[in-house]
This record gives sequence, C-alpha cells and structure tokens, in this order.
Amino acid sequence: AWAAVPAGPPDPILGVTEAFKADKDPRKINLGVGAYRDKQGKPYILPSVKKAEELVRTSLPDKEYLPITGLADFTKNAALLAYGADSEPLKQGAISVTQSISGTGALRIGGAFLARHYPHSKAIYLPVPTWGNHIPLFQDSGLEVRGYRYYDKDTVGLDFEGLKADLKAAPEQSIVLLHACAHNPTGVDPTPAQWAEISDIVKEKKLLPFFDMAYQGFASGNTAKDAFAVRHFVSQGHQIALAQSFAKNMGLYGERIGAFSLTTASPEEKARVDSQLKIVIRPMYSNPPLHGARIANTILSTPELYAQWEGEVKGMADRIISMREKLYNALTHDLKTPGEWGHIKSQIGMFSFTGLTAPQTKVLAEKAHVYMTSNGRISMAGLNSGNIEYFAESVDKAVRG
Ligand code: LMR
Repeated sequence: AWAAVPAGPPDPILGVTEAFKADKDPRKINLGVGAYRDKQGKPYILPSVKKAEELVRTSLPDKEYLPITGLADFTKNAALLAYGADSEPLKQGAISVTQSISGTGALRIGGAFLARHYPHSKAIYLPVPTWGNHIPLFQDSGLEVRGYRYYDKDTVGLDFEGLKADLKAAPEQSIVLLHACAHNPTGVDPTPAQWAEISDIVKEKKLLPFFDMAYQGFASGNTAKDAFAVRHFVSQGHQIALAQSFAKNMGLYGERIGAFSLTTASPEEKARVDSQLKIVIRPMYSNPPLHGARIANTILSTPELYAQWEGEVKGMADRIISMREKLYNALTHDLKTPGEWGHIKSQIGMFSFTGLTAPQTKVLAEKAHVYMTSNGRISMAGLNSGNIEYFAESVDKAVRG
C-alpha cells in the first residue's frame, strides 16, 4: 500500500538532534534544538520542578481524564502569568483558555479555531524568518501562510521599516503572528516603542494579532517584562490570540504543557468560544495529559515555589548571557575571526543567529562535529565553559575556509 510514499526530508530542527546522536566523536556539540543545558552541558531539571513533582506525588492524585480544555486551575494561572493581574479581560472573565500540548499544540488549536471561526480572513502573516514549524503548522491548520519582513541581514537587526510597510500592505483583518519575546530564530525583538507602533498599525488595519510566547522569562530573565508586548496590546483594546509554552521556562519539554487563549468581548462570548474550542480539540486528542499541568500549576499557585522558579528562570537566562559575552570575546579578541560579531551579544533569548551560511554549518558538522540548524542559528544554551573554546575555534576555521 505504501509503495508510492516518497521519503521525506529530516525535520530541519529535530533532524539535527538525530544527526548529533549518530556522531560518535567525543568533541561533538549539539547547538540545534532550543533546549536548555546546564554548566556541564547536561539537561536541567529545575529544582522548583523537582519540589513541585514531590508535592504532586505526595498528594496521591488520581489518573482520571482531565476535561477537554484541561486542568482549570492551571489554565487560570497560565493566563495570569501571561496577561498579568491588571488585565481588563482577565478581570472581566472574558479570556477563553485551554490547556495544550505545549506551544506547538497551542498554535495548532489556534490555527484550527481561526480557520473554522474567524470570519474575515484565512491569511496569516508570519515574520521572515520564523520558527520553521510555524509554516507547515498553519498550512496544515487550513490557513494561508504569507510573510512580512522582519530581519535585516545587513544590520543583523530588525527590518522595522520593512515590517511596517508589509503590515500596512496586508489586507484588512488578516491574521498576524508575532513572537512575544526572544524571537526564534533571530534573537531580535522590537523595542517597547516599536511594539507601540506595531500595535497602532495592527489597530489601523484591524489585523488579528496572534502571539507566540514560547520563551517568557528567557529574554530579560523576568516573566512580567517579557510579557510586555502581550500586555501592551491587550491594554490598547486589541483582541488577541496567544500560544504559551512551559517547555523552556519550566524546562518541561517532554511533558508537553502549554496553553492557548483568546481574549473575547464578554463572559458570554467567552462561553461560546469555550464551547467551540472543545469541539475543535475533542476529535484531535480528546483531552490533554495530566502530569505537566499539575507540575506547572503547583509552581504557579505556591508562592514560595513561584519565587524560587522565577529565580531559576533568571539563572538560565543569565548563564546564556554570560555565554554570549564569552563567545563574542573569543571570536573578536582571542581569534580575531573575520567579520563583525556584536550581534552575538545584542541578540536576545535562547538563540543566536550567527550569520554562518548553510555550507559553513555543513562543514562544521562534518569536520568539527558541531551541529546547528542550517540557517546558522545556534542554541546558546548548548555552550558551556567546557566546549566554548572548541566551538569558537571551529567557527573561526569554518569562516576562514
Ligand atoms: C526550537 O526551535 O528549537 C524549539 O522550538 C524546539 C522545536 O520543537 O523546534
């Protein structure tokens, strides 16, 4: 039956992990997938997560099905983390929230809901470049994917003029996907003043803003600060869609815990949206998994654990920043690698968009056993004092050809 099925390409991000695992060289480094590593290069279970797991275990919870939209306390607390206690729609009870299979699941629920219920447009504008999975994800949801300019190769920064021009040229009421903070893959975010201008254009063009917030806490080390764009848009009266992930900021990658929400006009409208979210979700996967929701909710609802967790998020963000500094110094001062490397320090979040070309990334994998996505993105968290020198030397060689 499957004789005509063609072999597909490896996933551009997760395929890098597969190639890394197959490499037996002891010097190998994986800077592909965005997953935090500690100072020793090991996966990191946050101490607050360990404590929360212990609290969950000792409360001897059952294994019953969750409701279709998940654990109600978790979704309430996830919304509070994103929107903030002062949020008008939150206070009014006008935010429809559902638990999701991490950020990807949240985006997919959102895509499917918009494809079915957003009456004005099927077009979604994504930044160029964006997280690779956004494109097939929204296409498979039934939306029509288009792009808006975001990154300027020459300045290695935001193409703000291009961004504004493209959003102004989009048909009214189109959907626009915005990375709330720590843009993936570029590490380039708009400033608060630029966000305010984007908000004005979105309003003028009646666009529907759909925020992807996968890295809350990773940009500045502060979860409230990183929610600035989301909160600003809501305060300006926009109705937004929002995908949240707890993969990165709680290190709950494999637990697949996230949330999708929509701000609505009233509690009555919210109830109708809730009912339709259930109708979207039930045929996809019935209801979400328990464990990650219990861990995340325990952290979000226990003040001491919450404070501890915020410190741990900052710790991860700070270690990444220190690696940026080290890598910049190694390339610029120690090795005098040709090129300008200031963007390594100025970029934000888990990634650096190095400017390395696809052929250079291929050479790095084949000759130096250093793995990254072919767009030149590196996960800064994969670097540590044990491997950063070797990495910098390998980059230096690749750049010099
Ligand atoms: C990444 O961009 O590396 C992460 O979002 C992980 C993933 O699923 O691609």
